[in-house]
Amino acid sequence: MPGPTPEEIEQAAAALAEGRLVVFPTETVYGLGAHALDPDAVARIFAAKGRPADNPLIVHVADADAAQELVAHWPDAARNLAERFWPGPLTMVLPKSGRVPDITTGGLDSVAVRVPGHPVAQALLAAAGLPVAAPSANRSGRPSPTRVGDARADLSGRVAVYLDGGPTEVGVESTVVDLRGKPAILRPGGVARADLEAAVGPLAAASAPERSPGTRYRHYAPRAAVHLAAPDTLADRLRLLRDQGLRVAALASTENAPPGPDIVVVGDRRDAAAWARRLFALLRDLDAKGFDAVVVEELPEGGLGEAVMDRLRRAAREDRA
Ligand code: TXA
Ligand code: MG
Repeated sequence: MPGPTPEEIEQAAAALAEGRLVVFPTETVYGLGAHALDPDAVARIFAAKGRPADNPLIVHVADADAAQELVAHWPDAARNLAERFWPGPLTMVLPKSGRVPDITTGGLDSVAVRVPGHPVAQALLAAAGLPVAAPSANRSGRPSPTRVGDARADLSGRVAVYLDGGPTEVGVESTVVDLRGKPAILRPGGVARADLEAAVGPLAAASAPERSPGTRYRHYAPRAAVHLAAPDTLADRLRLLRDQGLRVAALASTENAPPGPDIVVVGDRRDAAAWARRLFALLRDLDAKGFDAVVVEELPEGGLGEAVMDRLRRAAREDRA
């Protein structure tokens, strides 16, 4: 696969060391990176994204040893999960060490750490030799970018270097797990709940929103209004909206896609990974085509279905900014 040259990786690493911003691919979505221990650099992330200051960032590191330097405590569950899922789409929240500036963690005394698996992210972290704070590389509230062009469209002019690693594999963001007590999922994502439970036993109940500040905000939303529909109501929903004179598309499964124009067949209902991979790009493409609304078929919550449905529910929320 074509990717950045070693020179481009070096340029990006140098930009990070100078406190500038770099867009880079991870296996989940593209990240907007900055030197995590440099408060001025991290401030540029918040400004470029238009991100609320109390929404903490994930710090990306090359390996579990580098992660341990950022935390005050490394419990057995962290060691276990790191061995099992890193590099990969898993983020762990732990008590932070004094090295991590408050701005990086949105003022919290915990820090979120992740070792990404994408070879370009790995090369960048190795070349830079520093921890990289990186939220998804979208303007705050928009669908996360799974192609470098999506990040450019949102952030143009605010970033020093863009690294192109092609479309991302997973398509939804990492699973965020809180390990300060009994492990709990703060945000479902690229590692499925059942796989986590196979590693650390039953997870604590879904946490209150204040434990993962990012989940308070409307998120992942295209300009088009998102409507969720059960498989058997999809066609009716589409007709009702079109009867109002709106331009409406649908995202549907192989099994349930109704005939007609502007119906995108995303994948099988049971293939949530295929939906995860394509979802954000499809929402952005429908926006580019000027649709007023999109009706999306609800998926079963197993595997990556939990993350896909989480993103869709947030995109569909009424309290649109
Ligand atoms: O896959 C991903 O996680 C991507 C790639 C770039 O790594 N990053 C990403 O970052 O999705 P962002 O900023 O869009 O989402 C980070 C989530 C937010 O919901 C945030 O509130 C939560 O992680 N988070 C970060 N630090 C936290 C902390 N100390 N405590 C609780 N939640 C935290
Ligand atoms: Mg994000």
